[in-house]
Amino acid sequence: DTQGRLIVVSNRIRRDASPGNNSGGLAVAVNAALKLRGGIWMGWSGNTDAEATSTKMTREGNVTYVEVDLTTADVRDYYNGFSNQTLWPLFHSFKDRAVLSEDYEVAYRRVNATFAEILFPLWRPDDAVWVHDYHLIPLAEELRKLGSIGRVGFFLHVPWPKFEVLHDVPVHKLLLKAMSSYDVIGFQTRNDLTNFYEAVNCCNEGGKLENDVVLLFGRRIKLGAYAVSIETLNFAKSAAAAAKQPSMRQMVESLQGQTLIISVDRLDYTKGILERVRAYETFLKGNPSYLRKVTYLQIAPISRSDVLEYQQLQAAVAEAVGKANGAIGTADWTPLRYINSGSSRDELGALFRLARVGFVTPIRDGMNLVAKEYIAAQDAANPGVLIISGFAGAAQELSAGIIVDPRNIQSMAQAIADALEMPLTERKDRWRNMMTWLLEHDINYWTNTYLDDLFS
Ligand code: G6P
Repeated sequence: DTQGRLIVVSNRIRRDASPGNNSGGLAVAVNAALKLRGGIWMGWSGNTDAEATSTKMTREGNVTYVEVDLTTADVRDYYNGFSNQTLWPLFHSFKDRAVLSEDYEVAYRRVNATFAEILFPLWRPDDAVWVHDYHLIPLAEELRKLGSIGRVGFFLHVPWPKFEVLHDVPVHKLLLKAMSSYDVIGFQTRNDLTNFYEAVNCCNEGGKLENDVVLLFGRRIKLGAYAVSIETLNFAKSAAAAAKQPSMRQMVESLQGQTLIISVDRLDYTKGILERVRAYETFLKGNPSYLRKVTYLQIAPISRSDVLEYQQLQAAVAEAVGKANGAIGTADWTPLRYINSGSSRDELGALFRLARVGFVTPIRDGMNLVAKEYIAAQDAANPGVLIISGFAGAAQELSAGIIVDPRNIQSMAQAIADALEMPLTERKDRWRNMMTWLLEHDINYWTNTYLDDLFS
């Protein structure tokens, strides 16, 4: 382990991170990891400066935040461009949506070089640098151009796709070269790691040396699968406490005895929101005895709304929800509640606890911490049922949930019926199995196993 500080670098910094206020899993996890250890968190402030990049440093408790304002062009071409229109769709195997642009690629390199220049003078010899996610893959390479820097680790929060998705895209070589500047590369699942091996083998620039160690462009790199997680016990306690708050009483009253089904996602095409709405409609049409007996709440904070695909999705989901409610609802019953505003972590915990079904069915997802939070929030005496997509990283650990294929609408509709009808003893068995796992494999476990490998 390190005696020095932990220096975390990620594109997004969020101090009050919760997936319900549109933070992704990354900010939720990094926030928790840093609170435990203290150190530096560097990233984009979320603000734009028309002219030049500027940096602000603040200290809160044991964490120093180094926040960088990016220029308008950087936000357009590095963040909205290369990160979210090239890499995001590629890594999630939505190859058709990937935009390839020279300007985007140049901006990606430029911002990574800028981040390296800001970070390099802050680095002290026994610090651990831990870089997160697809926005910053070239950061280690850029840091090493500035001088010698100790061990640098990388963790990819999104999936690493199969070789056929990446191999004929020109950015593929650039990515592998950049990855070769790290000492330890962490993935969410063994599956991602296997796909990465395949890419290494096919690029003719190295290969496997021993178990989970590769040689890539002449550097020796340790690979590992480390499933990102949550503050399980803490989340469970806050959820139980929040469930007793007066605002929750109102929520319970508004349900008038109906059973609650819940989904919480950033409004993103990888999350399978449209498919879920259709599955719910199909379920109600096929199971009329459940009319007026259930309410489905979809919380979907708006995300990346400068990008056209996200604007289109927002319109499409609004339309689908309107159609479903119009077709199935009655004057006094709204089958589907759909909201775009985020909720606090406590409020979410209380809602998860209230919901009989946690409906988490992304088309593809690196991990999905909502699934883990849903489990953590349950009441041991009367736990709810998790329906989880087999294409979420979390399904590897939460296999005691009902596993579904998010594109198979009929089978998802059936899963809702099965979840609602599941007897208490089975619900308890399945929940206990998952909760036991998550209590051990929490955020602390993730941080420690990763950092142990970075420093061994
Ligand atoms: C995912 C990504 C994160 C990202 C988050 C929110 O979880 O893995 O890197 O921060 O989505 O997206 P945003 O574009 O708002 O940062």
